[in-house]
Amino acid sequence: MKDLIDKLEKNQILTKEEFVKLIENRTPEAADYLFEKARAVRHKYYSKDIYLRGLIEFTNYCKNDCYYCGIRKSNKNAIRYRLTKEQILECCKIGYELGFRTYVLQGGEDPFFTDNNLIEIIREIKQNYPDCAVTLSIGEKSYRSYKAYFKAGADRYLLRHETASEEHYNKIHPKELSLSNRKQCLRNLKEIGYQVGSGFMVGSPYQTTENLVEDLLFIKELNPEMVGIGPFIPHHDTPFKEFKGDNGELTLFMIGIIRLMIPNVLLPSTTALGTIDPNGREKGILSGANVVMPNLSPVNVRDKYLLYDNKICTGDESAECRHCMENRMNKIGYDVVVSRGDIKPKTI
Ligand code: 5AD
Ligand code: FES
Repeated sequence: MKDLIDKLEKNQILTKEEFVKLIENRTPEAADYLFEKARAVRHKYYSKDIYLRGLIEFTNYCKNDCYYCGIRKSNKNAIRYRLTKEQILECCKIGYELGFRTYVLQGGEDPFFTDNNLIEIIREIKQNYPDCAVTLSIGEKSYRSYKAYFKAGADRYLLRHETASEEHYNKIHPKELSLSNRKQCLRNLKEIGYQVGSGFMVGSPYQTTENLVEDLLFIKELNPEMVGIGPFIPHHDTPFKEFKGDNGELTLFMIGIIRLMIPNVLLPSTTALGTIDPNGREKGILSGANVVMPNLSPVNVRDKYLLYDNKICTGDESAECRHCMENRMNKIGYDVVVSRGDIKPKTI
């Protein structure tokens, strides 16, 4: 086990078989060894800094119907909402005062927001806060649209590939969605010049170890600036409500591997991790993550952006989350910094 982790640390990619062996035969001791190495690499690039991203969930309307997601269009029990441009800008204002220098505009795929609407919102945020980065997380769009948002000032784009196996992709998505289009979107985003974030769920229904290895190899090939991974958690109003959501330990192990695989990558310790374990976000950081994404959405909509059950922070004001996060990070010896938190260049 240790030999495989050492090999990864030396920046050598493992074969499919080696990755399967590493994941399937992992022990708590191997995990500790992995996390120690992952932290060392993380400290080399980012010392004990924690980068903040302010997450603004601006619409929970979605035209898609992914089987795992609580805001899928077929969920008639979801109470839908949209924020106005003014509400979004108000979130940015509150966020700026709290020390956020990156805003993540996340939403379902909601055609109500036209490209022109989005461009106006992006422009205005960048005008008001030229020292901040704007990250979009609004799903699959055309090359033209991606280009237009970029020209308007968007800096980064998050689009998890969800699973790099076509067979698995088709088991967790309706037939209207395809892995090939998703991958094409990621390539388009890179070509346009975005800092790109991909990622996947750990423990999603029907996922095999081989699927996880495919995710790792796809990420290695794509070489994104950010990788968002989190445990699958069932949502009670989806077709996957009966599936197990107990994937925290494996998620942490994957975080450790990804840190060694792409040493300088931006790696969030996700809300989903914090949802399945009260100390999940701290554990994510101690496994090699270096980013946290506290919620900046207005409190009255937070309990409506439910991708999965029991999501944390739905009753807290932005300021509470911001300070809670700082305390949590300080307790484990890390410092939340006021910075855009761009990726550091890779050294050999
Ligand atoms: N459990 C965990 N993560 C989920 N996501 C969507 N639904 C769930 C769920 N039930 C993730 C997807 C998506 C991101 C915004 O949230 O990976 O890309
Ligand atoms: Fe939201 Fe702790 S981060 S309450």
